[in-house]
Amino acid sequence: MKINKAIFPVAGLGTRFLPATKAQPKEMLPVVDKPLIQYAVEEAYAAGIRQMIFVNGRNKRAIPDHFDTAYELEAELEAAGKKDLLELVHSIKPDDMECIYIRQPKALGLGHAVLCAQCVVVNEPFAVLLADDLMVGEPAILKQMVERFADWQASIIAVQEVPSDQTRRYGMVAGTPVNDRMMDMTHIVEKPAPEDAPSRLGVAGRYILTPGIFKEIAALPRGVGGEIQLTDGIAALMRREKVFAFRYEGRRYDCGSKEGFLQANVELALMHPQLGPEFRNYLKTLAL
Ligand code: G1P
Repeated sequence: MKINKAIFPVAGLGTRFLPATKAQPKEMLPVVDKPLIQYAVEEAYAAGIRQMIFVNGRNKRAIPDHFDTAYELEAELEAAGKKDLLELVHSIKPDDMECIYIRQPKALGLGHAVLCAQCVVVNEPFAVLLADDLMVGEPAILKQMVERFADWQASIIAVQEVPSDQTRRYGMVAGTPVNDRMMDMTHIVEKPAPEDAPSRLGVAGRYILTPGIFKEIAALPRGVGGEIQLTDGIAALMRREKVFAFRYEGRRYDCGSKEGFLQANVELALMHPQLGPEFRNYLKTLAL
């Protein structure tokens, strides 16, 4: 089985970024020159995925607009002979990429958002990407996971070590190592207190899941924060199927927090082929 579908839960209110997110989705906040959601979609595309399923809510028009044709803009760029910019605008949605939009009527949590996409995914394994986790790696983090999936044909959850005082921000896992980066997962718990965390491995916002997860989520009671938690669905799935934790190779920026968002902007600006060198010089002049 190949992974061809990715779910992007984008219905969250983004209250941590108010006032910036009062009238625009947090997923449209730009890191350097691209909105967060575009980084996530490009990562899925690089992993060979062609069907992008956005689970969105009210006030999220900007996301479908971003991946749609912009006739006026394109006509103006064409008339002005601005070929490079026209190409840049076209590249946001390659011709072989399909975008599907599903509405999550109530903010009932990440597990519920994934369940909303069941009617499109039906019976195949799929990926979930949380756009506020901006992931940088070579190959792209999701591609690393898709490659592992080809061998193991089981759910794979991206994990990384997190500081012990931050366990309340993450799904925390434990497992038995099966090779250098994969673990046969034995525990997963959503946002535990440090003393209750099964290890220091926290879930990053990248998942490959088998369709068996839908039945598990549908049977869940509300979890942490009164929400239907994807983590609880994975815990239930683990009782029936093997689930692996994968220590990916790369860097994660928590763009759901202001600190992580600022770090992503600085570090990606430094990596930017055009902006990087001058920006580096500028930072040096700050002599902090
Ligand atoms: C979600 C998940 C959590 C995971 C985190 C990664 O939490 O519920 O298990 O560790 O994403 O970013 P959220 O950050 O949406 O509260």
